[in-house]
Amino acid sequence: MKTILLKNRPKGKPSVSDFEFVENDSPLDIKDGELLLDTTYVSVDPYLRGRMSDAKSYVPPFELNKPVHSGIVAKVIASKHKEFNNGDYLAGMLNWSTQQVSNGEGLTKVDGEKAPLSTYLGILGMTGLTAYLGLTEIGKPKKGETLVVSGAAGAVGSVVGQIGKILGLRVIGIAGSDEKVDMLKSKFGFDEGINYNTTEDMTAAIAKAAPNGVDVYFDNVGGPISDAVLFNINHFARMIICGAISVYNNTELPKSVSVQPFLVKNSALMQGFIVSNYSEKFPEAMKHLSTWLAEGKLTYSETVVEGFENIPQAFIDLFDGKNKGKMIVKI
Ligand SMILES: NC(=O)c1ccc[n+]([C@@H]2O[C@H](COP(=O)([O-])OP(=O)(O)OC[C@H]3O[C@@H](n4cnc5c(N)ncnc54)[C@H](OP(=O)(O)O)[C@@H]3O)[C@@H](O)[C@H]2O)c1
Repeated sequence: MKTILLKNRPKGKPSVSDFEFVENDSPLDIKDGELLLDTTYVSVDPYLRGRMSDAKSYVPPFELNKPVHSGIVAKVIASKHKEFNNGDYLAGMLNWSTQQVSNGEGLTKVDGEKAPLSTYLGILGMTGLTAYLGLTEIGKPKKGETLVVSGAAGAVGSVVGQIGKILGLRVIGIAGSDEKVDMLKSKFGFDEGINYNTTEDMTAAIAKAAPNGVDVYFDNVGGPISDAVLFNINHFARMIICGAISVYNNTELPKSVSVQPFLVKNSALMQGFIVSNYSEKFPEAMKHLSTWLAEGKLTYSETVVEGFENIPQAFIDLFDGKNKGKMIVKI
């Protein structure tokens, strides 16, 4: 059994040396009410970066020299638990370990016949819920409005844009390469795409792509990209602050434009959120996501990295945009 521990709190961009691999050869025993789980898929997510630092946040930081954990799909290989049987696949927050014992708390059964197991970590999991609930609960999108999405080719962003299209909006995505921009339009049905790495004047590029201004902004990245969107917002615009990956590795306070004048002038709303704020709406959101997926109205992309030993690097690669859609590690 192999486990990955957090060895150091990363300074700036995380590196593989911030993690330690430990191996334990003694067999894992289970008691009544417990399960033995074999890890199948591991989700790596930008928010884990926050938990690796000891700054105050909405969840406690990871402890040093303890296992890192994230969303995982695992197979039950031994069970003394009433609800779960051998051969079941379960999803939930688990340790970065090849095998582990669990009491089943917080784990839900997932059905690999209904959808590929990896999708329970993406479009039918936390990132799909984040996309749906952030957009509908805060964005309150109306048909005919213009939606801009940053981090558009990632797990959350690619779903946000597609839901925007289902709801009848004009959708503009911002991503980091021409290949990603092509994918936004050809695979996910976005109306326009902007490659922020090759665009000198983002404010002008957004104005060109959104000639009627921006009504809803789904922000996954923060920083200068989001500053450029501010210059293009309409009256009563809604800015959904989902994440700020462009500043997660900053070691100094980022410099940004002052948002207040934009909010006042436009009677605009800017609201951050954590998907768990809307946990009572998860069943409703999941119903929409799974129905649209089954009907072919939603699709998804995954970057699947193989091998337990590659989990830390897959996580680090999120900060270099190496993923298209959801970044997942297959064990
Ligand atoms: N609030 C919540 O409850 C919640 C839940 C889930 C996720 N989130 C947040 O939502 C955001 C997206 O998460 P995700 O899981 O869907 O990740 P993701 O978008 O699949 O992966 C991260 C992407 O961020 C982009 N990126 C990296 N560095 C960047 C930079 N300096 N500037 C602009 N873009 C950069 C990269 O794409 P490019 O190639 O386009 O640069 C990369 O592929 C993250 O900020 C995450 O923390 C929030």
